[in-house]
Amino acid sequence: MSARSCLAIVLAAGEGTRMRSALPKVLHEIGGTPMLAHVLHAVQKTGEVRVAVVVGPKQDVVATAARRVVPGAEIFEQTERRGTAHAVLAAKTALAKGADDILVLFGDTPLIRADVLMQLRAALANGAAVALLGFRPKDPSGYGRLLMKGDELVGVREDRDATADEKKIALCNGGLMALDGGKALAILNKIGNANSKGEYYLTDAVAIARDMGLKAVAIDAEEDDVRGINTKGQLAETEAVLQQRLRNAAMEAGVTLVAPDTVFLAADTKFGRDVTVEPYVVFGPSVVVDDGATIRSFSHLEGAHVGKGARVGPYARLRPGADLGADVHIGNFVEVKAATIEAGAKANHLAYIGDARVGEKANIGAGTITCNYDGAAKHKTDIGKGAFIGSNSALVAPVKIGDGAYVGSGSVITADVPADALALERSRQTVKEGWAKRLRDLKSLTAKKP
Ligand code: UD1
Ligand code: CA
Repeated sequence: MSARSCLAIVLAAGEGTRMRSALPKVLHEIGGTPMLAHVLHAVQKTGEVRVAVVVGPKQDVVATAARRVVPGAEIFEQTERRGTAHAVLAAKTALAKGADDILVLFGDTPLIRADVLMQLRAALANGAAVALLGFRPKDPSGYGRLLMKGDELVGVREDRDATADEKKIALCNGGLMALDGGKALAILNKIGNANSKGEYYLTDAVAIARDMGLKAVAIDAEEDDVRGINTKGQLAETEAVLQQRLRNAAMEAGVTLVAPDTVFLAADTKFGRDVTVEPYVVFGPSVVVDDGATIRSFSHLEGAHVGKGARVGPYARLRPGADLGADVHIGNFVEVKAATIEAGAKANHLAYIGDARVGEKANIGAGTITCNYDGAAKHKTDIGKGAFIGSNSALVAPVKIGDGAYVGSGSVITADVPADALALERSRQTVKEGWAKRLRDLKSLTAKKP
């Protein structure tokens, strides 16, 4: 946290042509969350910050995604893509309102962390007018090179404008920048476009600040913090880095991951204490797992809550709105959607429970289906406390099974069942003594014929 006020400008006007996708680049997801949201979350973690997002023409979907994370975000449109400094100036009215610190972030650099942003801001508090992130990538091509004079940062040379000697510089620009709010507009207004691309480069802020007698500094950063995404390949590489961070954070918080590399987490997955996750489990967005729960192999969870001590899987699917109480068992090939399963209830094999409530300690037999959809609308199934649903039953919603009631195996239940009753819906079994033997005898007679 800092006592200084801050305006964060997030640049998200890029076309993202190299993603070869109809979806704007910054809305592609890592860890189940759009990259833009990752950047905005990092900004929010630094404390009270005013947020401006610069979007391209007709990119209302980007604006909407930004406002979902930061409802008060100011949105600016950059009508023509004329460079990073030009993009920052699209937010001129936000800049003119003033702030002690200005942070410029890129919407396609999703792994940036709040403490790195705080280091940039700390450099401003220590007297720098411009601060950026320096890192040494394995392959520096494409990045701006940092021109140093001893410890002093004197300029940034973009890759395509660099001389052969400058290209040998290993220290590169991470892209993000912090500017002293009192000087930012004066610096930005001086940036021209006399370069090979004819673009207004934000990186020219360094040399201009120096000319104005101001100080510019580079802060050491890790490649992972400034990883920019331009292609689907880089998206996958960044996902891998994020997964590693999420797995490590989960284990540090006490989660047992038996085979961490096989577990896929979402950025917002929440675990209690003493949770065990077996190999090959996938967590989609918005999953909460309470203390002592076990998620067994090959399960897929999304928008679900797993209560204390519950057991899920192997091979279970929890879809959005699945809410499992304490000690619930959801076994192999059971799918649960928009359903509350109360404490101690069990569905151990082969079932679909959708749009339902299953009361405390109820037992759902193998093959049970809640028939929740009639082709037009969804209906609810309500199963009482301690009820017993026999195997292969179809519960045609809307329908209620009372507390403690039994449903006989193979029944198609279309009417409510009162508490403690038995409902059976199937025809009585007929038995024909000796029938099978007679059939066999008949067959062997016909087979003997020449
Ligand atoms: C930029 C830096 C480079 C640095 C690299 C790190 C400049 C001039 N160069 O280069 O020094 O090493 O990042 O990844 O800043 N954008 C707009 N409008 C524009 C142009 C860009 O919104 O008119 C946005 C893009 O959507 C993107 C960000 O600004 O999120 C960076 O632009 P990009 O073209 O990717 O810059 P680089 O060439 O990668
Ligand atoms: Ca880039």
